[in-house]
Amino acid sequence: MKAIARIFLATCGAAAIAGCATVAADTDYRQAALDLIRQDFRSAGPATVERVAARDESQQLCSQYPIQRPPEVAARIEAAQLAAVKPPADGKYLGKWQEGEKIAQNGRGMQSSDAVGAVNGGNCYACHQIGKKEISFGNIGPSLYQYGKLRGNSEAILSYTWNKLYNAQAYNACSTMPRFGHNGVLTEAQLKDVMALLLDPASPVNE
Ligand code: HEC
Repeated sequence: MKAIARIFLATCGAAAIAGCATVAADTDYRQAALDLIRQDFRSAGPATVERVAARDESQQLCSQYPIQRPPEVAARIEAAQLAAVKPPADGKYLGKWQEGEKIAQNGRGMQSSDAVGAVNGGNCYACHQIGKKEISFGNIGPSLYQYGKLRGNSEAILSYTWNKLYNAQAYNACSTMPRFGHNGVLTEAQLKDVMALLLDPASPVNE
């Protein structure tokens, strides 16, 4: 990156200053990319151009500090994301683990080939091991096998897990895990079902 920057500066030094200043500013690259997206992309079904183009505060800060970010920036993101979590309206965290397994397996949702308003999946297995029976899973995230058996069912664990599923950035600024509740990917009922998959003692995850 440094070498590229140096070459860029050297070229700039020799070229017309006004042109260079426009290209060199970070925000102008962003604007040019946004202009391209708005010009060349088109919305199809639930996959809308605005979903790509519009960024909330945490996305802006995560783009600004993609790898290392000042601790106060991380703390600011996490506090704002945690404050936006909605606990379950009836105070009950656990639904049906059988439904939760289907949601964890389902990778559909919010794609151009999905119907607007269709039910989304969580695609959890794409990143996590969960149930022992499923042998095809990703490992971007930690294994969640025996999650409830290892951690128990205390109020603190229930609320931590709910918050994490609702908004993964509540505890880890710029987490690559989708913000399932926050972004309306999963409904409250679906979140409860996935909670049960992880935490219900009867779930095969906790055998
Ligand atoms: C795109 C990848 C990805 C997907 C999809 C994903 N996760 Fe994650 N998840 C991660 C990563 C990475 C971490 C660890 C980093 C972090 O905590 O943000 C994580 C962490 C977690 C944790 C915290 C684990 C701990 O030790 O405290 C839980 C619980 C969890 N995920 C559950 C789920 C569930 C349930 C789903 C599906 C509804 C899901 N995840 C979907 C990537 C993913």
